[in-house]
Amino acid sequence: MSEQQGRQRVDVTLSINGKSYTRHVEPRRLLADFIRHDVGMKATHIGCEHGVCGVCTVRIDGRTARSCLHFAVALQGHEIETVEGLSADGRLERLQQAFHEEHALQCGFCTPAVLLTAEEFLAENPSPSDSDIRAALSNNLCRCTGYTNIVKAIARASGREGEAASSGTGDAS
Ligand code: FES
Ligand code: FES
Repeated sequence: MSEQQGRQRVDVTLSINGKSYTRHVEPRRLLADFIRHDVGMKATHIGCEHGVCGVCTVRIDGRTARSCLHFAVALQGHEIETVEGLSADGRLERLQQAFHEEHALQCGFCTPAVLLTAEEFLAENPSPSDSDIRAALSNNLCRCTGYTNIVKAIARASGREGEAASSGTGDAS
């Protein structure tokens, strides 16, 4: 592809959190960049850009996915959800409330992706053990390494106090 061809733009229309957004972008525009830079939803973060860290996690047709690994143009006709779609009318939903109560974030960079991962996980495993939760989080890197309180928050959202509750805070395990 020539440089000029690479700069051609097309209209891309995506449904994000139930609303339709059309932007004039290059065909190679990544979903993460479309959401964050073209639409302006800043909670979808970008880290490694090659599918490792998980901070770009969104939902595509109800399943979590790395938005840095998808071209926006290929997702027309699909339903995209970001963390902004989690709470209705500005009210925190139960996981967000649990993160608030357990102080389960430090810088917050990983938090939107962790919330989406945890919500999907709890839908499939409503009564998880702490080790189940840790396994579910293995694809989401927290640079602040505050996993203990994240595990406690997810346990709280599931309706129980986490075993981690008595093991202190902020470790990297
Ligand atoms: Fe997508 Fe790291 S930015 S996985
Ligand atoms: Fe800082 Fe997870 S809270 S990266």
